[in-house]
Amino acid sequence: MRFLSSRTWQFTYFAMQLNDWNWRGKDILDFGGNIANILRDPNATIDEQRYWCLDVVDEAIEAGRSSYPKAHFHFYNRYCYFFNPTGVPGLRLPHLEARFDYVIAYSVFTNASRADMLDLVGQLKGMLKEGGTLAFTFIDPHFHSFPEQNEGSNLFRRLKKIKSENPEVDIDALAKEANDSQWCVLVDNDQLYVENEDIRYCPPGLQKSHYVFYTEKYLKALFPDAIILPPANNEGQHCCVIKAAASG
Ligand SMILES: C[S@@+](CC[C@H](N)C(=O)[O-])C[C@H]1O[C@@H](n2cnc3c(N)ncnc32)[C@H](O)[C@@H]1O
Repeated sequence: MRFLSSRTWQFTYFAMQLNDWNWRGKDILDFGGNIANILRDPNATIDEQRYWCLDVVDEAIEAGRSSYPKAHFHFYNRYCYFFNPTGVPGLRLPHLEARFDYVIAYSVFTNASRADMLDLVGQLKGMLKEGGTLAFTFIDPHFHSFPEQNEGSNLFRRLKKIKSENPEVDIDALAKEANDSQWCVLVDNDQLYVENEDIRYCPPGLQKSHYVFYTEKYLKALFPDAIILPPANNEGQHCCVIKAAASG
């Protein structure tokens, strides 16, 4: 069985970040939406027939389609480390018959490569209606998302989780390497790439994970038109909000 998300509350998160709780009558593209858990959020106000989901995991798309037959699910066979390692590298987004008020991506570019993020954000912006908004989450490695729990930075929280499953990993050495980095990639729990993503080949069946971290400042430099918002709804991820360019 491929990856099926069990995460919840995505609607509440984006409603808070976008300051809009009424999404009725709006066309929504949930990029990397997996099995469409956003529709299960008790606060969700998305019309099923106005909901579109693209994902690189075909089983997730099939599961979403059978739960929400009036919505639009499309398998997107693009290469992605771990989630779709046999997909087509750099495959363009499919042509969809709709344009969107909101394109959202929860915890998607936290797993995709930086090169893919840059390419896909450019393409997704082109799928917005005039006045539409793209919003996606990212994780700042040095930010302390849960200071009251004294858990350390977001990168260190991830490293501690890895250590709890694999005590041999020297997480202090990895954390030190990432000190002051603007972005980094943590692959298969023990390889850290600092400000580069020339990751070593790993056969599809052995790939375990690919976490990408960007500082708020760096993401703003990559997307100068964006508004960067701190985490909301007691979650760890920041939000990058990009409005469609006005026409004319
Ligand atoms: C951590 S999961 C989050 C799923 C969903 N957004 C949620 O919150 O339940 C990351 C998702 O991004 C999808 N994904 C990764 N790279 C992608 C890409 N290039 N295009 C579309 N989906 C992608 C994965 O297949 C996976 O479903």
